[in-house]
Amino acid sequence: MSEATTHDTRRVTVRAPAKINLHLGVGAPRPDGFHPLATVYQAVGLYDDVTVSTWDEWSVQVRYEGLLADPSATGRPADRGIEHTVPLGEDNIAVRAGRALLAHHGIVDLAAAITIHKSIPVAGGMAGGSADAAATLVALDRLWDLDTSDDDLLALAATLGSDVPFSLLGGTAGGTGRGELVEPLADTGSWWWVVVGNDLGLSTPEVYRTFDEMSDLASLPEPELPAELLDALARGDVHALAEQLANDLQDPALALRPDLQATFDDGYDAGALECLLSGSGPSVLLLCADADHARTVTAAMHEAGHGRAVAVPAPVSGVHVVSYDGPVG
Ligand code: C5P
Repeated sequence: MSEATTHDTRRVTVRAPAKINLHLGVGAPRPDGFHPLATVYQAVGLYDDVTVSTWDEWSVQVRYEGLLADPSATGRPADRGIEHTVPLGEDNIAVRAGRALLAHHGIVDLAAAITIHKSIPVAGGMAGGSADAAATLVALDRLWDLDTSDDDLLALAATLGSDVPFSLLGGTAGGTGRGELVEPLADTGSWWWVVVGNDLGLSTPEVYRTFDEMSDLASLPEPELPAELLDALARGDVHALAEQLANDLQDPALALRPDLQATFDDGYDAGALECLLSGSGPSVLLLCADADHARTVTAAMHEAGHGRAVAVPAPVSGVHVVSYDGPVG
């Protein structure tokens, strides 16, 4: 560790949004085990904040906020019956992101302390881990003045997970390949969703395995981006969008977690225009006509016992720096 880094007191905080999939078309598994996707990503106003500073060794702290914080309880979500928590050691995707960035630049003698203020549901189908990885890439790039190009950041992001490039990009985007090839899409809407979190996470690989078991893989077509949905987005037409929402992982997730059907039923009873599983679940998304409607639907979901339902706008920007404390003294 060089003297300069030991005495470096800079801290950078970067914010990354959760993602949802307005369309998630899944094909038969590829030779590498991943599934080809044609997906429409949207970044929603639910965020993790990642703060980094140079440190002698890699460390990760997670503080649970927003949806995940229960003001009447203390301790980690696991202590409150929320099953999935973030790994804190070397396995943490933020640490992997930091190491990948350094390896890309051929640097061996730096490490960082990473603090994640987490509002995105863990194992919720909203790319919370991917958001942390994307935020860490940008935060460390800034902290250490590495000047990594956007193309290189996107390529590094793709090595960390299928959703990580979209977390960098934000907005509304088409995703192909295994989800890592992203292209911005025309979207003139100001959309409102109610996100209904769930205390028990779902394992993404398990949902994909169940998809395979439930599908006639030999006759599955190559997934394609849906023209009608792209048109609804370009026109900002919420009723057309409601008709085009689709997620091939919804049935497998419901097969694993039949209890989620009650959340869908409550969403329709609350007046949502449409209900959709978020990614591989178990978070459920309720499409609303506007902000007022989202407030009404949220209140109805709280009334129905879904205390962690929250209204969020979309689309929002991808990863962005929210604070930068320069060197002190
Ligand atoms: O890319 P990521 O690490 O997010 O993927 C997590 C898991 O989800 C993979 O290990 C794989 O089991 C499954 N997956 C898949 N096809 C994709 C994306 C993810 O099978 N396109």
